[in-house]
Amino acid sequence: MRVDLRVFRYNPENDTKPHYETYQVEAEPTDRILDILEYIKGHLDGSLSFRRSCAHGICGSDAMRINGRNYLACKVLIRDLGSSKITVEPLLGMRVVKDMIVDMEPFFEHYRSVMPYLVNEELPPRTERLQSPEQRERFDDTTKCILCAACTTSCPSFWANDKYVGPAAIVNAHRFIFDSRDQAGVERLNILSNQFGVYRCHTIFNCTEACPREIEITKAIGEVKKAIAAGAIE
Ligand code: FES
Repeated sequence: MRVDLRVFRYNPENDTKPHYETYQVEAEPTDRILDILEYIKGHLDGSLSFRRSCAHGICGSDAMRINGRNYLACKVLIRDLGSSKITVEPLLGMRVVKDMIVDMEPFFEHYRSVMPYLVNEELPPRTERLQSPEQRERFDDTTKCILCAACTTSCPSFWANDKYVGPAAIVNAHRFIFDSRDQAGVERLNILSNQFGVYRCHTIFNCTEACPREIEITKAIGEVKKAIAAGAIE
């Protein structure tokens, strides 16, 4: 089949404003958008810029807007989109460095602000810190995050104010807040109860729909809100 791939192009070093270029490519319905981008870069236009690493939905580096919705380019097939006319653009709400490459540093600043690591001041036990299957299950869903930013950059609250810590940071806070081995849950809840924390979430569910790992993000945010309201971690 023939695919018309309309691609956002912007190189701040040379361009005064962004523009779109359309590439016509022969492809199979089972080809991924990443395959087409690779083909264009390798055969038609070497200046096209995008991030990718694993090409298998694990590293999270190729999140982008495809026909108006956030996806990992390596996980979406042409046939999934139901059209041979495809538009590819960078994630919304982030500074464009070049073409599909956005500046991820503010995103990672939000991530770091919620202490996304285990805090436990006790002396390490001789063996492992034991946890029951039920205790592990409590935060299982939020361990799946690959920090692709598809959720945060699909959130209207984040578009309105990029100081909002965003769904991805809350997911990663949730992962430790509800970990029975961790001791900094209250500190994280305090961080997330500030004016740019969880209460910026208006339960719109864009984040849940955008997540390539199918994490129930809005539910996780709701659990963090509940823990703050209760003044305790269940
Ligand atoms: S390239 Fe790693 S998730 Fe797509």
